[in-house]
Amino acid sequence: MSHALTGRKVLLIVGGGIAAYKSLELVRRLAERGVETRAILTAAGSHFVTPLSLASLTGNKVHQDLFSLTDEAEMGHIELSRWADLVVVAPATADLMAKMAHGHANDLASTALMATDKPVLIAPAMNVRMWTHAATQRNLATLLADGIHVVGPDDGAMACGEFGPGRMAEPDVIAAEIARLLSGAGPLSGYRALVTAGPTLEPIDPVRFIANRSSGKQGYAIARALAEAGAQTTLVSGPVALAAPPRVKLVKVETAREMLAACESALPADIAVCAAAVADWRTEDLPNAKIKKTAGKAVPELRLVENPDILKTLAQLSKGRPRLVIGFAAETHDVIAHATEKRARKGCDWIIANDVSAATGVMGGDQNTVHLISAGAREDWPLLSKDEVARQLAARIARHFAGAA
Ligand code: CTP
Repeated sequence: MSHALTGRKVLLIVGGGIAAYKSLELVRRLAERGVETRAILTAAGSHFVTPLSLASLTGNKVHQDLFSLTDEAEMGHIELSRWADLVVVAPATADLMAKMAHGHANDLASTALMATDKPVLIAPAMNVRMWTHAATQRNLATLLADGIHVVGPDDGAMACGEFGPGRMAEPDVIAAEIARLLSGAGPLSGYRALVTAGPTLEPIDPVRFIANRSSGKQGYAIARALAEAGAQTTLVSGPVALAAPPRVKLVKVETAREMLAACESALPADIAVCAAAVADWRTEDLPNAKIKKTAGKAVPELRLVENPDILKTLAQLSKGRPRLVIGFAAETHDVIAHATEKRARKGCDWIIANDVSAATGVMGGDQNTVHLISAGAREDWPLLSKDEVARQLAARIARHFAGAA
């Protein structure tokens, strides 16, 4: 029987907790939906369920050892981590969560989690005190900020005799969450989004360039959040040290003109978010040989010409204009006044204004205080992580299209 999820693949990491028996049930729930599962069983997990049970239910060999020669020859751990459409950790023990939050990679499970380029869902399960412990809650906050999806835990009676939060979510609930993540069904499914991010590099000669300090973090987080909300997302990015978010089509560019061309070829789009720090100018002439400093010769003068304004171009398209065009305004003073003026000048629908004066640490940092300025209205958002700004923005866009705002 064909199902919406037929052919989709899940890598299930089974950690060491009494709830591990429920992951066997989870495999069955996934199989009913047409999902193929491969399992990694941790050393601790193998005290609770056997490799044989997992192999029988998944219909696949169970992976247990990072250094197994036969496993590496058949399907290496990197390949395994990429084979899946989604990685699920169930049960996610306090130890696995700590390893994930700190980037440990000292066994097959933690290495696969570090090596994967796919979304990750965890179903925590542990004793109530372990769950409420400050260290676990700190790790949870880190994982959420990293974009890890979390389902549960539930409240209830625990195997250890205590009562409270810490019980792993029921297999049906985890399976439903997996189905939601795999089908990409979110409030923006069916919408197309275009995001620009990072700096642009404007060459001076074949070896030198003009650039800026944009890290690309905010733009990448927005692309990720839009994709997670179900939008078919293209991210046009200048050079940055960030990996492509899951399910996002990444187009790498260097110059402002390349960025504009890439944006135009990504159209049509319903949503355009311009978060790139596009260089305002480029050099007028581009010599094809390196400029030499010859003794006695005058210091070279660079003549600059203006680059295309990508936000303005998209916002003012007469044909095929995205329905919602959003720009950023990075200001160091009179933030609201400058951003409001910028919105009018560029012709975009919304401007996300932020204060980037040195004291705020926004540039290159992980947090942002923003104001959303639309036609005649202004929303002041609290201090949030860049990931949270991105998720709030995706939710705000979804509400806009739903007609609620
Ligand atoms: N932007 C763009 N293309 C450009 C310049 C800017 O798409 N060539 C976009 C940015 O991605 C951002 C917004 O325009 O969304 C604001 O850019 P900014 O450089 O701050 O505005 P300017 O018009 O250059 O104003 P100023 O530098 O004077 O603040």
